[in-house]
Amino acid sequence: MKIVGKKLVSLPCSKLEGEFRVPGDKSISHRALMLGALGRGETIIEGFLASKDCLSTASCMEKLGAKVRWKGKNCVSIISEGRNSLQEPLEVLDAGNSGTTARLITGMLASLPLFAVVDGDSSLKKRPMDRIANPLRQMGACILGRSNAKFLPLSIKGAVLSPISYRLPVASAQVKSAILLAALGAQGVTHLVEPFPSRDHTERMLKYLGVPLKKTGNSIWIKGGASWEGQYFKVPGDISSAAFLLVAAVIVPGSRLVIKEVGVNQTRSGIIEVLRAMGGDIRLERLQEFSGEPVADIIVRGKKKPLTAITVGGSLIPRLIDELPVLAVAASLAQGETVIKDAKELRVKESDRLAVMARELTSLGADIKELPDGLIIKGRPYLQGGVCQSHGDHRVAMALAVAGLVAKKGVEIGNADCIDVSFPGFADLW
Ligand code: S3P
Repeated sequence: MKIVGKKLVSLPCSKLEGEFRVPGDKSISHRALMLGALGRGETIIEGFLASKDCLSTASCMEKLGAKVRWKGKNCVSIISEGRNSLQEPLEVLDAGNSGTTARLITGMLASLPLFAVVDGDSSLKKRPMDRIANPLRQMGACILGRSNAKFLPLSIKGAVLSPISYRLPVASAQVKSAILLAALGAQGVTHLVEPFPSRDHTERMLKYLGVPLKKTGNSIWIKGGASWEGQYFKVPGDISSAAFLLVAAVIVPGSRLVIKEVGVNQTRSGIIEVLRAMGGDIRLERLQEFSGEPVADIIVRGKKKPLTAITVGGSLIPRLIDELPVLAVAASLAQGETVIKDAKELRVKESDRLAVMARELTSLGADIKELPDGLIIKGRPYLQGGVCQSHGDHRVAMALAVAGLVAKKGVEIGNADCIDVSFPGFADLW
């Protein structure tokens, strides 16, 4: 695999072998910075993902008055005097391409006594923000934006918030986390109900910091007013980044990869379950915990026998939401018909991932039908390959790069520089 200008060229390979780490978890890295800025003293984040998305969050925290200091390439410290010390930013808070930054910061700002504007790049400006603006306004937040706060830029004027009881219409960790961060500044107990469990890093990290939070089934209760001291966070490898290597190894026969210290939180590990159900050989070893998060080394092997098709939907979807583009690649090579359903959320990611994956994989020789909420994929023994586009979406670019490993002519992906959003060093790793 090599980068040529902004293009990524991925050529067929006979087998993959190696032992390595993937960059730190993106969701945890964002949250550690924000919780560090809300805490008092120094928070050290080891294994931090220094990718474009997380650097956007770091720069927003600095604009709010927290001090960000680099201690190494992947170790950062954030120093703050606590939530009440945060300052009105002089400039717009630029979330870049990062939905997590925009949505979680809006929740964090809703109860702070200051005025701020949150904006993002052209892709983020198209993504729905009313999913956070609506519940935050129910709490008393003062949020304005285009189309009644559906789209960025949003302006936020901190207000005294009241707790709410809120049933999330979609299983979204960003919505849940925005409300939890706002609830920390509300007077009383906020109650949330999720339709299905979404990633629970915010809850785990708050508990790790000593914030009282109760969870039963899909319900969460959190009391406002908690404060905490800066802490040490160790960030595991991102399973969403490891997923590209897992799929690559299971579709290239004879491969054996060891991916060390990857986060295997149940709310994120759906891809391991699905690849195993398709016949993939994946084992977990050296199970341990990093700052309240389960972590393991993942050993994956590529068998001679092709994968088998599967149906994926329901409560599994939030547990592998970011892995669906690369799962579509695995399904394109599996025996039988794979159905991905209940995945309408993919239409409002960094790109419309259902439309984009259907179009680009079809152009590489796959047999895919797009559904309103999913994909039907008839597996083939191999892909032809060719030239395709990332549509500015990092996970689409990396999924197509994995397809190149098993495509006769290889794959050339245009606008692949967006990979830096989540996986710096992706091309070099291969
Ligand atoms: C994320 C939650 C998910 C995921 C995104 C990161 C997070 O988004 O797709 O990449 O860090 O909370 P939704 O909450 O929109 O499902």
